[in-house]
Amino acid sequence: MKGILLAGGSGTRLHPMTLAASKQLLPVYDKPMVYYPLSTLMLAGIRDILIISTPQDLPQFRRLLGSGERFGIRFAYAEQPRPDGIAQAFRIGAEWLNGEPAALALGDNLIHADHLSDLLRRAAGRGAGATVFAYQVRDPERYGVVSFSESGQALEIVEKPSVPASNWAVTGLYFYDRNVCDYARNLRPSDRGELEITDLNRIYLETGALHVERLSRGCAWLDAGTPDSLLQAATFVQTIQARQGMLVGCPEEVAFRMGFIDADQLRTEARRLGKTELGHVLTELADSPPAHALSHPAMQEAQRALSHPAMQEAQRLGVEPV
Ligand code: G1P
Repeated sequence: MKGILLAGGSGTRLHPMTLAASKQLLPVYDKPMVYYPLSTLMLAGIRDILIISTPQDLPQFRRLLGSGERFGIRFAYAEQPRPDGIAQAFRIGAEWLNGEPAALALGDNLIHADHLSDLLRRAAGRGAGATVFAYQVRDPERYGVVSFSESGQALEIVEKPSVPASNWAVTGLYFYDRNVCDYARNLRPSDRGELEITDLNRIYLETGALHVERLSRGCAWLDAGTPDSLLQAATFVQTIQARQGMLVGCPEEVAFRMGFIDADQLRTEARRLGKTELGHVLTELADSPPAHALSHPAMQEAQRALSHPAMQEAQRLGVEPV
């Protein structure tokens, strides 16, 4: 499975902060916003990621993220010339996806949860259909909203309803099977002129192929699209990191825990971060990785995959393993 990180748009709700800077590069406490959804895709085990942004902002993303080598993954980049809707990502990315299933993460969404990696890997591992995640919010009218039958079956999904049928918002993280680009090609713009991700999800819902995972109250889902939500997200990250000494949304850490990079590479990345607290925590992690990180099933699986002779040969030759 490949991943797409959509970091376009003009961030009008964050003006003037976004008049000269990309929303998804604004800081959320100690990291650029895009690091959080990037970490989520990596936790799903995804190592090929297409970054989509505006023509003027894309060079900054390249500058920040590079080839992906330092996270043990590969980035590709594509422009979204106009903000014509989230589902446009599957038109822009169709050739790059080349018929593979895909996960899409919105560049301003942050998810933090226990066992998130297991949840994500389950979604990524589903051969057919689509998976979306629903989360209870106080202001569902701001989002795509899904309603359920008494037995928990998803009934309906509506974009920004003025009278929401439930308080379950659809988060900005989506997993699709290989049909997604065909479906996206046939979408028509909505009344507000956008190719709606909700219309794409509705196609899966109507064919009985949409899995809706309800995130429990113990999970945190935040978007950072307004001054208030940006501040809330920053405070959340600061609180968890200060209290637990564990990082939220740090791709270097995820890369190490997933087995994408080794301790030496992590040390190199930590040094790049200089004397920051982030650099300090990463150095500690490289020097004494907690046993549970190494025994995590995702880590073990990733290490097994990496040590597979075909993978090693592919890495030696610098080609994609088959
Ligand atoms: C978009 C989607 C919406 C989804 C939300 C999640 O809304 O259209 O369905 O619930 O992302 O963040 P937007 O952020 O573009 O208003």
